[in-house]
Amino acid sequence: MKRDLLSIYDLTSEEIEVILQKAGEIKEMHLKGKHYRPLEGKSLAMIFEKPSTRTRVSFEVGMYQLGGNAFFLNPQDTQLGRGETIADTARVLSRYVDGIMIRTFAQERVQDMARFASVPVINGLSDLLHPCQILSDIFTIWEKRGEYRGLKVAYVGDGNNVANSWINGALRLGFDLWLACPPGYESDQEILSRAIQEASSKIVLTHNLKEAVEGAHVISTDVWASMGQEEKRQDRIKALRAYQVNADLLLLAREDILVMHCLPAHRGEEITDEVMNGPHSIVFDQAENRLHVQKAILTLLMGKGEEDGKRH
Ligand code: CP
Ligand code: NVA
Repeated sequence: MKRDLLSIYDLTSEEIEVILQKAGEIKEMHLKGKHYRPLEGKSLAMIFEKPSTRTRVSFEVGMYQLGGNAFFLNPQDTQLGRGETIADTARVLSRYVDGIMIRTFAQERVQDMARFASVPVINGLSDLLHPCQILSDIFTIWEKRGEYRGLKVAYVGDGNNVANSWINGALRLGFDLWLACPPGYESDQEILSRAIQEASSKIVLTHNLKEAVEGAHVISTDVWASMGQEEKRQDRIKALRAYQVNADLLLLAREDILVMHCLPAHRGEEITDEVMNGPHSIVFDQAENRLHVQKAILTLLMGKGEEDGKRH
């Protein structure tokens, strides 16, 4: 049976731990200059219906370092842009490649791709979720703190795809998550309610920034206008202005607070220059880890042992 990575919710805690462990091993080999090429001869198709720097480059470089190759497809240059369906694209690509990564708008497009592809499909971000980002963020916390269970993570700002994946991450891995979002900009209600019901840890949505950040080990934020929301940017800036991650906010958290941002950042909006460049910021380590975690995901989904019954 092929496995996909569409949402952190679909993974068990043990499966996530395997990914994190594998990412640690892969990073260590990489830093020692050791080659590790379990995906020799394999190809990954990467469909981007939205822009990307980190996801595109880390998947592409990751595949190369694992011995395979990856190539970029955008709707304008493929038949997807002329109305070929996701289902037919999935069926055709499955005849050529060993895995598909897709970044798109509706989560349903990711799900359709997975349903009709006979090779593993990875969600490289949708309007609803950004699972690879949060796996990498949790790996980064683990690396910096040696644990994630029992920690308090505060997500501050827009309740978007990144926030939704933080919720799934907290549900599966048992850390406390406090989301501070202004009214009207909360995270997905269904994802949140499900997590609150099923979680062993505390998952709380509040409009009260102070309550969310007090005693937090980690503060994470993201842009106020995600890709596809550019027209509403000015309204969003107004609504979210009070939820900026700045030096005053950090004073409410623990002294050793870690500040995270999935990037790209709009410096001066959701996060100040001072905090981004300051001693608590781990945003570039976080970005670096996308490479190692992506390689772990690719190896586990597309490597040996995952091949039986994969094709057609
Ligand atoms: N964080 C992230 O996914 O960045 P990109 O949009 O540059 O891929
Ligand atoms: N929430 C942002 C994340 C970018 C990586 C967006 O969807 O644009």
